[in-house]
Amino acid sequence: MATLPILFLILCVFASEAKIFRNLHAPPPIDVPVGRATVPVWANITQRVDHFNPVDKRTWKMRYLYNDECFVSGGPIFIYLGGEWTITTGRLMTGPIYDMACENGGYMFYTEHRYYGESQPTSDWSSENLKYLSADQALADIAYFIKYQKENIPALQNSSVVAIGGSYSATLATWVRIKYPHFVDIAYASSAPLNAKEDFFEYYEVVNDNLALASSTCPTVIRSAISEIETMLESQEGIATISALFGYVAALLHVFCVFTSRLCISNGLI
Ligand SMILES: *[C@@H]1O[C@H](CO)[C@@H](O)[C@H](O)[C@H]1NC(C)=O
Ligand SMILES: *[C@@H]1O[C@H](CO)[C@@H](O)[C@H](O)[C@H]1NC(C)=O
Repeated sequence: MATLPILFLILCVFASEAKIFRNLHAPPPIDVPVGRATVPVWANITQRVDHFNPVDKRTWKMRYLYNDECFVSGGPIFIYLGGEWTITTGRLMTGPIYDMACENGGYMFYTEHRYYGESQPTSDWSSENLKYLSADQALADIAYFIKYQKENIPALQNSSVVAIGGSYSATLATWVRIKYPHFVDIAYASSAPLNAKEDFFEYYEVVNDNLALASSTCPTVIRSAISEIETMLESQEGIATISALFGYVAALLHVFCVFTSRLCISNGLI
């Protein structure tokens, strides 16, 4: 009996997984009208693995996109900051960033966040290497990116800089303006989570809404499965059952652990 809701959870999550994760870990979808813009250009910039340790000389290639089709010499820089996703060309082809840049003779950039997409500072994601995955390092990447472009594209030498972001990358846009005001003139932050708090129930409301996109019963099933698993995590027997159940679907266990991370961590499950 105890495993029935868990099975439903698995089915429910598998059935909706792609949809849910596309919705949660990607910027909002954007339609690209054919023929409106030239294709943005892919490029790389060399960044330091650790911006805060002068002895560490290691570097990596951070990927980015640019589109200068509307640029007028001396015009502003519009830099869209990548968040926890792989960057794609659409953002620089249509929508608000494209419109703002084109109305103001601006130069568009879209940077990929370290450890996402092709922008990998280290050869693997071991704990030792993941210590360079931090907002502070990502902010330093952005600051150096702006400095580099201004030094290397003469027409950008005196340009104002607008940092733009959505969700986590909007938080970065806000922070980069505060931390590096000499590089960034304006932050455009759309849905930026700025208030860090322990019991961030508002986030789960969004998760709930996303689960409901899959089916109206999905949130209820998941809620009951979670409370059942929480109970099971309180005994050694329960922990063994969960390990066995989720042994084949480690990724799903990880998803679950997002909901009850403290319990999972304290039990060594992730
Ligand atoms: C960027 O660097 C990657 C990895 O070294 C390489 O595969 C890719 O071709 C580079 N892209 C450009 C546009 O230079
Ligand atoms: C930037 O400003 C300097 C000093 O005013 C000026 O000499 C230079 O031509 C300007 N560059 C551009 C691209 O506008």
